[in-house]
Amino acid sequence: MLLSVQKIFVENFRNIKPLPIEFAPFINVVFGKNGNGKTNILEAIHLLFKKKSFKKNTGFSQILSYDNEDPFVSIKAAISTTEGLQNLSLRISRDKTEHLLNGKKSKTIRNGTTLFIGPFDSGPFFLGAGERRELIDELICETNDDYKKILKKYFVALRFRNILLQKKPVKYHEQIKAINLQMGEYSFFLHFARNQYVENLNKYLTETYKQLFSDEINLKIQYSPTLPLGRSAEEISKIFATSVEKDEKVCHTTVGPHRDDYIVLFNNYNAVEFCSLGQQKMAYLSILFGHLDLVLEQHDLKPIILIDDISGELDSVRWLNLINFLSKRRQQIIITTANEAFKDALNTIQHAKSIFVSSGEIYTT
Ligand SMILES: Nc1ncnc2c1ncn2[C@@H]1O[C@H](COP(=O)(O)OP(=O)(O)O)[C@@H](O)[C@H]1O
Ligand SMILES: [Mg+2]
Repeated sequence: MLLSVQKIFVENFRNIKPLPIEFAPFINVVFGKNGNGKTNILEAIHLLFKKKSFKKNTGFSQILSYDNEDPFVSIKAAISTTEGLQNLSLRISRDKTEHLLNGKKSKTIRNGTTLFIGPFDSGPFFLGAGERRELIDELICETNDDYKKILKKYFVALRFRNILLQKKPVKYHEQIKAINLQMGEYSFFLHFARNQYVENLNKYLTETYKQLFSDEINLKIQYSPTLPLGRSAEEISKIFATSVEKDEKVCHTTVGPHRDDYIVLFNNYNAVEFCSLGQQKMAYLSILFGHLDLVLEQHDLKPIILIDDISGELDSVRWLNLINFLSKRRQQIIITTANEAFKDALNTIQHAKSIFVSSGEIYTT
């Protein structure tokens, strides 16, 4: 199981200089003026573990340093795990990605990953069902490998169903019957897992909100699927079959887990309609921190927490709540800020490591 990242070394990654950066096992405070590379450091760590950036539409050409020596990006790290110290590396070039654990090919590192928390993501999360699904899917996948597999299969089937609806090949009727059966099975599984995850998460949200923001708010998330819950795979297949006529007209699949939504309830009101932007941000942060409590208590997992500049979202009373909250967690946290007072407050946490970034160069004390 992953415990922490001890050291990273990047080459040709954005503006970060190829010098080793060392981290402490618990709190790390990355401080620097805007535009110096704080978020880039978090991105490098996230990319190394998840093989994708937390930034949208970010590919090789975005991350490759403007003044690269060679056209490849390399991120190497020494990571501490329950099996001892290991080497994890990612090397990306235009046509190839190589992810190695101790020099050997690894799909992903088992039982351990990162969670990125950035306040700007709360905007899209409250704007669109797609964003909500994407985040919740990612959170479920963290502890449920079967979910990841079935979700992939569902999307393959969905794409095929949509092609059938558009092209209506010779064996159209048999094929669509078969795909409806498959999609019924996958949907049944996805429904169950999503519903169960949300029920679990709800055990934490109100308490997390209270700890972080000192307010007694009843915070809940409600799963809102397009197909009725509690039906068997067979029954769901039948719903897919009955929607064929409608789907044919628009040439795509109009119901199913790919159209599901989640409703965030803030004192039983829909947060999208009822909450201020500030409250939405607080609810969003509570969902992510609540998830961290869930994976810790129910799966004994401690992902590396990457927190990008949330000081601006919180007043100074709430800084203290957050600092108190973070100092109690015995897991690695890498938090960035451009706010000197917030940095100083964070550095009062015992054993916090201070990391200063200037023009992509890192100085530690
Ligand atoms: N591909 C790249 N090559 C070199 N520099 C980059 C690249 N992408 C972004 N940068 C630089 O990284 C800096 C922004 O870094 P960032 O980590 O977002 O700063 P902050 O400290 O504000 O979080 C900017 O100066 C930008 O020019
Ligand atoms: Mg930043």
